[in-house]
Amino acid sequence: MGYKVAVVGVTGNVGREILGILAEREFPADEVVALASRKSMGVECSYGDKTLKVKALDHYDFADVDICLMSAGAAVSKEWSPKIAAKGAVVIDNSSAWRMDPDVPLIVPEVNADATERFRKKNIIANPNCSTAQLVVALKPLHDKAKIKRVVVATYQSVSGAGKDAMDELFSQSKAVFTLDEIEPKKFPKRIAFNVIPQIDTFMEDGFTKEEWKLVVETKKILDPKIKVVATCVRVPVFIGHSEAVNIEFENPISADEAREILRGAPGCLVIDKPEDGGYATPFESAGEDATYISRIRTDPTVDNGLVLWCVSDNLRKGAALNAVQIAECLINRKLIEAKRKAA
Ligand SMILES: NC(=O)c1ccc[n+]([C@@H]2O[C@H](COP(=O)([O-])OP(=O)(O)OC[C@H]3O[C@@H](n4cnc5c(N)ncnc54)[C@H](OP(=O)(O)O)[C@@H]3O)[C@@H](O)[C@H]2O)c1
Repeated sequence: MGYKVAVVGVTGNVGREILGILAEREFPADEVVALASRKSMGVECSYGDKTLKVKALDHYDFADVDICLMSAGAAVSKEWSPKIAAKGAVVIDNSSAWRMDPDVPLIVPEVNADATERFRKKNIIANPNCSTAQLVVALKPLHDKAKIKRVVVATYQSVSGAGKDAMDELFSQSKAVFTLDEIEPKKFPKRIAFNVIPQIDTFMEDGFTKEEWKLVVETKKILDPKIKVVATCVRVPVFIGHSEAVNIEFENPISADEAREILRGAPGCLVIDKPEDGGYATPFESAGEDATYISRIRTDPTVDNGLVLWCVSDNLRKGAALNAVQIAECLINRKLIEAKRKAA
């Protein structure tokens, strides 16, 4: 007997992708329930070749649900995840609500799958921010080889990372540029069409943004608290796929060729790296794909033991939906959960 899986936020960017990935990977689910807010009740969404009708989260009884994949934002998660977890379902949450809670594991299966085993305290597991997930997938194999001391990262993040309304805003603003209509920023602090915005999320007291802070603290929690990280996070007019320019300083020597070889064999990584026109990955090619693409691997001549690389991934997949489904698979493969209906 398979698992009963609830997906909260199915009408959103991440939720829709979760349904697609569950079907694609033939996740062992007997039943998948599609949930969103009351306003979406009855809306139809695709799960493989099936059509599911959306139910309202606040009317739903989770008593026989085994796994709840949650992607409805931090406020909804703060209110609902503990209630769902108390009903005995494991919540795998995509929002920022629980990531830094010491009793909640923050997991990227290629990096720290073992930490999943500590999920019972709250019955909640957190998925990292989209820009963190791809970064740690690329850093982990290099850290294992030469011990990372410091990382300086600049991100180029697509609008889908800010939800479906943000994608609509890039589309409508781009159209307005050609039709000479007025452009009024709503979701973003400035115009995003044909522009870049060096602000993601709100500002903190030290001048960094919350997105930059998340990238730093989440990388430390998942990979190694001793690594120093500094980030500049930038929104770019790309629909899907986050890119990152990453400078890495190591304790021990590591050449660009060695790094290329290590990353070629590393889980979740795909190296596309030829120093010629087009010999690298761009976000456009990453959309709809599972891999974290790594390109432009070079020696940094300005520090001892330094490398520079370019890293690209589909933020809705590895940055959110795929990672959440991989965590659920990890729970099953490690026999950390059992289907309630089977146990009954
Ligand atoms: N996009 C990314 O790259 C990414 C990456 C990592 C993490 N995340 C996180 O994942 C979460 C979802 O992001 P998204 O991009 O999918 O956002 P989105 O496109 O704006 O979708 C939000 C979803 O949440 C649902 N929702 C909102 N309020 C609700 C409520 N009160 N009760 C039940 N459902 C409710 C919405 O349903 P209605 O349509 O019914 O309102 C919709 O299905 C966020 O926490 C985000 O930070 C996103």
